[in-house]
Amino acid sequence: MTIIEIPVIYGDGIGPEITSAVLSVLDAAQSNSSLKLVWIPVAAGLSALAEGDELIPQRTLDEIARCRVALKGPCATPVGEGFTSINVKLRKTFNLYAAVRPVRSIPGVETRYKNVDLIIIRENTEGLYSGVENEVTPGVVMSMKVASEVACRRIAKWAFRFANRRGRQKLTVFHKANIMKLTDGLFLKTASEVHVNDYPNIDFESNIIDAGCMKIVQDPTKFDVLLLENLYGDVMSDLCAGLVGGLGVVPGANFGDDLSIFEAVHGSAPDIAGRNIANPLALLMSAVMMLNFLAEKLQLPALSQRATSIKMAYDKCLIDGQKTRDLGGQMTTSEFADAVIANL
Ligand code: NAI
Repeated sequence: MTIIEIPVIYGDGIGPEITSAVLSVLDAAQSNSSLKLVWIPVAAGLSALAEGDELIPQRTLDEIARCRVALKGPCATPVGEGFTSINVKLRKTFNLYAAVRPVRSIPGVETRYKNVDLIIIRENTEGLYSGVENEVTPGVVMSMKVASEVACRRIAKWAFRFANRRGRQKLTVFHKANIMKLTDGLFLKTASEVHVNDYPNIDFESNIIDAGCMKIVQDPTKFDVLLLENLYGDVMSDLCAGLVGGLGVVPGANFGDDLSIFEAVHGSAPDIAGRNIANPLALLMSAVMMLNFLAEKLQLPALSQRATSIKMAYDKCLIDGQKTRDLGGQMTTSEFADAVIANL
């Protein structure tokens, strides 16, 4: 029996509901198999605090460091006060510099747009999320945007390599280098250099972020791989989620050189938490990304077969109209998970 241990952060708000639903599908997909994924629940966020622990307990960090992979539900961050984001902290602690968010039209989910197939690659460690903020004088506060040549080049190389491996045709970098000439200027310049020097085979274009957003909502099919610094990548992810049915259907992964954390793009959705109505699909899709990633990394084709069978099962649900409320259906979180299991 081959066993792969995976730490799981259930998260806050809808996190525990959708994570349980997702694990039930993953468990059903691995029954009778000699290749077993074993979940290691680890705490982080409000639930960790409620248990009298630290926001991110050392055991959580140790288990993720040991297993080199984790599946994560959303964690809440207070607005305008309180502790700093757990998500940002995890990404920084493990140097998970590349966030990947595939945004695709989904069978059975009607939207204004057809044939959307975008991959958002977001620099995860710098920009305005460096967390360097201070009060200059009462009534005047400032936030520092950080860009280093090392991080800009690293994400540009990662993005082009990813695009190349996946056979993607074009990479668009979004920036505001007309205003932020040094920081966004560096992001744009390094991406352009990586294109010319290493990947001239991939079409490269740049868009000023505001006009770029307009172009994306006009016709997303004109775009392919999008490369953005931290804040723009965050905003663009939610914007693009709106093109394909919302936050309930966009998965994500955070990659470092040798450690990855898989999580949905969406947050803890406090407005619907505790009601068993959230869509678990984005986290399930993130788990499918994780299975495919592990299949490749560990040379275990059985895991990618498992990923494919889960994807086929949820696709069938959506095509059959079995959906949660955010997609216009009536199903609860757990009913949707059960429907996916029935299709496995
Ligand atoms: P959010 O993504 O939690 O919710 C935005 C809207 O989308 C809400 O109306 C919500 O009900 C809906 N929504 C989100 N996920 C859904 C799902 N799976 N099914 C159905 N509807 C869904 O964003 P918001 O409200 O800005 O943030 C709430 C909290 O989440 C904040 O504390 C924020 O810091 C945190 N957050 C955490 C993230 C993470 O852990 N990776 C990412 C984004 C936000």
